Amino acid sequence: MNAPLRVAIVGAGPAGLYAASHLLEGPGGTYLNGQLHYLVHRPVEVDVFDRLVTPWGLVRHGVAPDHPEKKLVHTVFDALHHRPWFRYYGNVEVWRDIQPAELSSWYDAVIYAVGASGDNRLGIAGEDLPGSWSAREFVAWYNGHPEYRNADFRLDHKRAVVIGNGNVALDVARILTLPIADLERTDIAPHALATLRNSAVREVVLLGRRGPEHAAFSNPELEELGDLPGVDLVVDRADVPEAATRKLATLRRFAERPLHGHDRRIVLRFDTSPLEIRGRERVESVQVTGGDVLDTGLVLRSIGYFGLPIDGIPFDTSRGVIPNEDGRVVGLDRTYVTGWIKRGPRGIIGTNKKCARDTVRTLLADASTTATSLPAMEVERRVRERRPDFVNAVGWLRLDDHERRLGRLAHQPRQKVCDPAEQLSLANG
Ligand SMILES: Cc1cc2nc3c(=O)[nH]c(=O)nc-3n(C[C@H](O)[C@H](O)[C@H](O)COP(=O)(O)OP(=O)(O)OC[C@H]3O[C@@H](n4cnc5c(N)ncnc54)[C@H](O)[C@@H]3O)c2cc1C
Ligand SMILES: NC(=O)c1ccc[n+]([C@@H]2O[C@H](COP(=O)([O-])OP(=O)(O)OC[C@H]3O[C@@H](n4cnc5c(N)ncnc54)[C@H](OP(=O)(O)O)[C@@H]3O)[C@@H](O)[C@H]2O)c1
Repeated sequence: MNAPLRVAIVGAGPAGLYAASHLLEGPGGTYLNGQLHYLVHRPVEVDVFDRLVTPWGLVRHGVAPDHPEKKLVHTVFDALHHRPWFRYYGNVEVWRDIQPAELSSWYDAVIYAVGASGDNRLGIAGEDLPGSWSAREFVAWYNGHPEYRNADFRLDHKRAVVIGNGNVALDVARILTLPIADLERTDIAPHALATLRNSAVREVVLLGRRGPEHAAFSNPELEELGDLPGVDLVVDRADVPEAATRKLATLRRFAERPLHGHDRRIVLRFDTSPLEIRGRERVESVQVTGGDVLDTGLVLRSIGYFGLPIDGIPFDTSRGVIPNEDGRVVGLDRTYVTGWIKRGPRGIIGTNKKCARDTVRTLLADASTTATSLPAMEVERRVRERRPDFVNAVGWLRLDDHERRLGRLAHQPRQKVCDPAEQLSLANG
C-alpha cells in the first residue's frame, strides 16, 4: 500500500468541510459526473484546523438564527467524523499556533479555507463612531461568536439604519424587527435575545446606493421580508421601474398593497447613499444623498465582508483574496485555497461545494506519489505541544450534544455556549 496523502485544511467552514468530504470520497479519488475517478493512487488522510472550538464557520456564526433549514451543512461534519482518516483540530489557529511554513512541512498539501473575517469600508466621516458597526459584527454578536459576545449593542433609539441591500442587510433587518416570540424559538445567542427583548427599535431603514433593479438581495429573501409578522415593509412605488424581473414584480406588489399600521416597519430606500455618519460621542444621525438626515442611534454597514491576510501566505489586498490559479496558491508549492478566501465574499453555502471540488481536483492532479508528510500521530503530538487544549471531533460532539440538550429544554434547536472557556471545559471534560 502506498503511503497516505496527508492534507491539512485550514478552516472548518462549508468550504473546508466540503473539501475534506471530496478528499475522503474515495482513496485518492473524486466523483466526476457521478463516477469515482482515481486521480492519485494513495489513500487520503485529512486534518481540519479551526481557530475556534466549534466547526461550521459562518453556518454557525453567519446564517440567521430564524433560518435553521440553511444550517444542514452540519451533516457534512457528522459524516466525516466517523472516518478514521479524518481529524479535527479545533481551537488551533494557523499563524498564532502554527506557522504556514511549518504546516507545509508537516503535510503533503495544505488547503486554506479561512473565509473572510474583515469588512469592506465605506470611507466616509463618522464610520467608526460608537454605534456604527459592520453588519458582520452584529451578526457575529447575535449568533454567539465568542469574540463578539461582549459587544455593546445599544438598541435604545427607535430607528436603525442599515447601509447596503444584500441578503445580509435583509438578515439584520429581520432580526431587529421580528417579534421576540419568534426569536425565542431559534438558536440566537442568549445575550442577544436578552438585548432584543428590550429593544426600542421600531423602524429599520435600508439604504441601497443604486436602483431596485440592482438590489443585491434575492427574491425569496425579499418575499420573506414582506411577510414578517407584525412588520410593515415600506417601498415607494415611484422607485420601482416597470421591467419584468421577479424581484421588481415582488417589490411592486409590496409597494402597491396597503400598510397594516404595525408598530414595526422596514423601509427600503433606493438610489440613496450615506454621506456622513454624525454624532458627538455616539451615532446620532446619518446624512444621505438628497439632503435628508436620518436620526438614529445604530448604523449597520452591510456592504460586504472582506478577506484578511495570513502572514506567510500571498494576499491580494485590493480584492481581499489569496491569489490563485485554479485553486493553486500563486508562488507556493502544494498550497491551495477554496471558499470565500479564494473567490471573494460572495456565494451561498452550496457554491462552496463546487468550489471545493474544483480545488480538490487540482490538488489530486498535482499530488506526487512520494510522501513528504509526517505521520498523523506525530502531527498530533506537535499540535498538543503548542495547544494542549485543542478540541478534537469527539470534544466538539460533546459540546454539540450539550447545546442541543439545553436547547430541547428551552424549545430551541440548540442553546449556544458562547464563552470559549466554558466551550473548552464542556468539550474536553
Ligand atoms: C451573515 C451571513 C448569512 C449567510 N446566510 C446564508 C444562508 O442563509 N444561506 C446560504 O446558503 N449562505 C449563506 N451565507 C453564505 C455562506 O455562509 C458562505 O458562502 C460560506 O460560509 C463561506 O464558506 P467559507 O468556508 O469560505 O468561510 P467561513 O464560513 O467563514 O469559514 C471559515 C472558517 O475558517 C476559520 N479560520 C479563519 N482563519 C483561520 C486560521 N488562521 N486558522 C484556523 N481557522 C481559521 C474560521 O473560524 C471559520 O470557521 C451567509 C453569509 C453571511 C455572512
Ligand atoms: N439567505 C441567503 O441565502 C443569504 C443570506 C446572507 C448572505 N448570503 C450570501 O452571502 C454573500 C454576502 O452577502 P452580503 O449581503 O454581505 O454582500 P452582497 O450581496 O455583495 O451585498 C453588498 C451590498 O453592499 C452594497 N455596497 C457595497 N459597497 C458599498 C458602498 N461603498 N456604499 C454603499 N453600499 C455599498 C452593495 O451595493 P452595490 O450592489 O451597489 O455594490 C450591496 O447592496 C452573498 O452572496 C449573499 O447572497 C445569502
